[in-house]
This record gives sequence, structure tokens and C-alpha cells, in this order.
Amino acid sequence: MRRLSEVVIETVDLGYTYMKGTPMARQALHGVNVAIRRGELVAIIGRTGSGKSTLIQHFNGLLRPDEGQIKVMGQDIWSKGVSLRDVRRRVGLVFQYPEHQLFEETVEADISFAPRSMGMTQVQVEEAVREAMRIVNLDYDSLRSRSPFDLSGGQKRRVAIAGVLAMGPEVLVLDEPTAGMDPRGREEVLQEVADLHEKHGYTVVLVSHSMEDVARYAQRLIVMDRGTVVMEGPPHEVFRHRDTLIGIGLGVPQVTDLVHELRGMGHPLPEDVVTLEQAMEVLVPLLAGWPNGHGQGKGQRHGHGCGHGEGQSQGQGQAQGSWDGERV
Ligand SMILES: Nc1ncnc2c1ncn2[C@@H]1O[C@H](COP(=O)(O)OP(=O)(O)O)[C@@H](O)[C@H]1O
Ligand SMILES: [Mg+2]
Repeated sequence: MRRLSEVVIETVDLGYTYMKGTPMARQALHGVNVAIRRGELVAIIGRTGSGKSTLIQHFNGLLRPDEGQIKVMGQDIWSKGVSLRDVRRRVGLVFQYPEHQLFEETVEADISFAPRSMGMTQVQVEEAVREAMRIVNLDYDSLRSRSPFDLSGGQKRRVAIAGVLAMGPEVLVLDEPTAGMDPRGREEVLQEVADLHEKHGYTVVLVSHSMEDVARYAQRLIVMDRGTVVMEGPPHEVFRHRDTLIGIGLGVPQVTDLVHELRGMGHPLPEDVVTLEQAMEVLVPLLAGWPNGHGQGKGQRHGHGCGHGEGQSQGQGQAQGSWDGERV
């Protein structure tokens, strides 16, 4: 069993204002208190502009808080004597659209950029690159000499992730890793993220504005709105606050909504269905019990699902397709 007790990243009353002291000042974070524990896969979720990217850039010292503290492995990273370089190695940050930062001629050169700059020897660098590529399921022999620009979208993103893994981080923070991808690419990347956590034991912080993505993979959700944390807990608990979530532009996964609706119609279903698999488990027996009910049931569900899908995609911005697109 993994121990979930040790806090690896913690913020204490964290606040941050862009362009502080100018007429353009914009407070992006205030009063943020979060703790990330070793071994967990936690998602930070909130609509665009809620402060997610600003928050995670504090996790490895790219931004310096102007209120409160950020602690990594129990240490205030801005206190005297703490090496930010060391913090940045331990907390690996994969930016949104990381493939935009690929620039070397070969996959191998790209992935080895960070480990080389950390002063590893040639042999260590090569080993780190091989291992990182193995972890993200990129074949070293056939891909190392290829140009990163010739790869598929999903592969490019995995090269970028490998570049961060090659530094040997303990915590991996991924900012909207599925942004702009088609359903297949999203699935591929999310599975990769889940594997990093499940199979390889990384502590993972997944930043997303898609409830559908986080519902399936995250053990815990940190929900942000207007620069602060408004809710926190396991997905099934967070999704009980459906109206609040809709109020902050998020909503709940389509299947959760569907089951909620069916409960309203008097069907005795559990409240905490968050994944398609869980929904199938409770709905198949229900449908089996409906006389000639299949056609009719489907029609009702469809009407319902579509309506919410549209509302959702409006609230969620343009980067990803609507939920309907993903499900069809
Ligand atoms: N470089 C910047 N300069 C000024 N304001 C910024 C900058 N980056 C983000 N902001 C503002 O800070 C707030 C939080 O942004 P961000 O952390 O990017 O949110 P999210 O990642 O949740 O979309 C937003 O109001 C955004 O406009
Ligand atoms: Mg962002």
C-alpha cells in the first residue's frame, strides 16, 4: 500500500498579483491553501482564468508569491539556503502545449536538454533519456533520431513529458495535458498520465478544466474559482455539489448528470456515479428491467445529455471539443 500521508507540496495563504504596483495589477490568487501528498493523483480543476496555471507555477518556484508561502518537502522554497534548481528538478512541470517548446533536431536531443543542463555526464544523460522514453512508451531505437516535428500530436506531447521525466522529478505537474487534442489523442495522453501514477509511482498533479477527464483518473479534486480554492475532495463527493459546480462554470460529467436525472424520476440509483463504467454497472440492470424500454430510454437520455453537453462546452472554453463529440 502506498502511504498518502507525507505532504510534498503545500501552500499557506498563498496570494499572487500580476504586475503588482502598476495600474494593470491583477490579483490572480488569494488565500490558497492546498496540500499535495506523496503518491496521489490529484486534479486541479477550474474554468479558464481561475488561477490554475498561476498556482502550479508557484509549485516549482517559477513565480514567487507575494503573500503566504509555498513549501516543497516541508521547506519554504523562498527561504535562505534553498536551491531553486533542486526544487525545479524535484517538481517537474509540463506546460500547456508543451510541444511548442520542442526545438531540437532529434527526439533524443530534446529529451536530453534538461538533464544535460543539470550537469549529468553523457552516460547518465543517455540512461536518463532511455528510461524517460521507456516510461512514456516511446521506442528509443526507432524514435531517438527522428525529428520531434514529424511525430503525431500524442507522441510530441509524450516527448515533452519525457523531457521533464529525464530530470528525475518526484512530483509531476501537468498543465492541461489534453488541451487541443482530438478524442483519441486525449485518451492516449490521459492513459499515459494514469500510468505514470499507477505503474511508475509518481505523485501527479493534473490540471484540467474538463470534468470528464478528471472524473476518471483523479483520486482527489481541488476546485478553483476566481483565484482561490472553493471545494476539495474525492470526485464523487465534489460532484454532489452539482449546482455550485455549474455556478462556477464547471458542471459534472455527463454520466453523473444522467444518473442524477434518473434518480429524480424515482429510480433508486447511487448518487456517486462519475465514470462511464460505473454508470454501465448501475444502468444495465435498470434497463434490463424496463419492458421494451430500450428505445424509449435511449431517446430520453439523449435529449438530456445533449442539452447539458452544450451548456458545458460553453462554460468550458474552446480548447477541447464538447462532451458529445467525445462520446459519439
Ligand atoms: N502573465 C500574466 N499577466 C497578467 N495577468 C495574467 C497573466 N497570466 C494570467 N493572468 C491572469 O491571472 C488570472 C489567472 O490566470 P491563469 O492562472 O492563467 O488561469 P487558468 O490557468 O486557470 O486559466 C487570469 O485573470 C489571467 O487573466
Ligand atoms: Mg492555465
